[in-house]
Amino acid sequence: MINFHKDHASLVNVALVVFVVLSTGIAVAPANRMQHTDPLPDMPKMTDAQRRGLAVYVSEGCMACHTQQVRNIEMDKTWGSRPSVPSDYHYSKERLNIWQQSPSLLGSERTGPDLTNIGQRQPGAQWHLLHLYDPRMVVKGSIMPRYGWLFEEVDSANVKAGDVVVPIPADRLGGAGRKVIATPEMNDLVAYLISLKQAPLPTGVEPGKFLPSPNADGKAVKMTDADALPDGSAIFSQVCAACHQADGKGLAGAFPPLAGSTIVNDKDPTPMITIVLGGYDARADYGVMPGQAENLTDAQITAVVNHVRSSFGNEAPATTEDVVKGIRFTVSPETALGQ
Ligand code: HEC
Ligand code: HEC
Repeated sequence: MINFHKDHASLVNVALVVFVVLSTGIAVAPANRMQHTDPLPDMPKMTDAQRRGLAVYVSEGCMACHTQQVRNIEMDKTWGSRPSVPSDYHYSKERLNIWQQSPSLLGSERTGPDLTNIGQRQPGAQWHLLHLYDPRMVVKGSIMPRYGWLFEEVDSANVKAGDVVVPIPADRLGGAGRKVIATPEMNDLVAYLISLKQAPLPTGVEPGKFLPSPNADGKAVKMTDADALPDGSAIFSQVCAACHQADGKGLAGAFPPLAGSTIVNDKDPTPMITIVLGGYDARADYGVMPGQAENLTDAQITAVVNHVRSSFGNEAPATTEDVVKGIRFTVSPETALGQ
């Protein structure tokens, strides 16, 4: 027997072995396993612009207020279609450079919304540009700081081809003929934000391959209840209000009003449904409307279209899911077959 009271060298050695074995077993090995995840099959690689945008996201400290993790609990269901898995971070976990480690994007403070799926929720670059120029322009009462230093105000004459002009109302600019353009850092940041989308989990993979997480059955975890009747007004607040505003009056120079719009009030719902499904870029004095075909189901589109057609003073007859289904076939055949 070793006498630990007398043999101090053995005491130290045994303590050392126990320490090394325990820390390897419960800290180093699991962490290492987490680090070596495969990317999900449908997860696109990050482009150079998105990677530079991630660096801007880190250096501006966006994760002080924003998380990027959907937890496996009820209150997180709004932030994604499934809980996050380690593979979701496969590409973003690379070191930023030799001096900086991989950024911790998970975050711990949710002063603002979780951004795991922001590219799905808010795919319009123009919305992000306006929001980052001044969050209060698109979200009344927002407490998010503005990132004005990532924009530049120039004379119209100095706008070069390829510059991204942000549709800021003229009364906020320092004189006639002034324009606001996004700096390259801002364009990278927006490219990064729009790329944030949850990739679907593959079906039929061996359990545990991607998911060392509580419900590790390897199947896609659908959190939204497809059978529940969608609430058009809720969809409007979640998807459309960011641009067309909660009162449907839009924002001069960026997003047109839906209140009193001839397209919305047309007895034939086809033009409106076509726009909602496929997007719209008809006029130079407004931004681009991103299509919602991939984002919303036929039932959801029907609900939101009917809501808009009967709110904000609009009075147009309701449409049905079958009509939407038919129009989807012409506008976006891929999503029609996928549904
Ligand atoms: C002081 C806290 C704070 C910081 C720092 C912050 N945000 Fe926010 N952010 C918020 C709040 C609060 C909201 C919700 C209100 C709004 O939409 O403006 C928000 C909303 C957002 C949204 C819209 C989310 C949605 O679901 O509609 C995006 C995108 C966003 N922030 C990106 C960023 C980026 C990029 C940065 C860093 C450049 C950043 N935020 C820094 C607090 C913050
Ligand atoms: C990212 C911003 C954005 C979002 C989100 C958005 N739209 Fe739009 N929408 C626009 C812009 C910009 C236009 C004008 C495009 C143009 O005319 O060039 C537009 C145009 C429209 C029009 C045509 C109105 C008219 O009179 O010209 C309708 C109808 C419409 N949107 C409905 C919706 C509905 C319903 C939703 C939600 C499901 C929605 N939009 C979400 C930006 C957006």
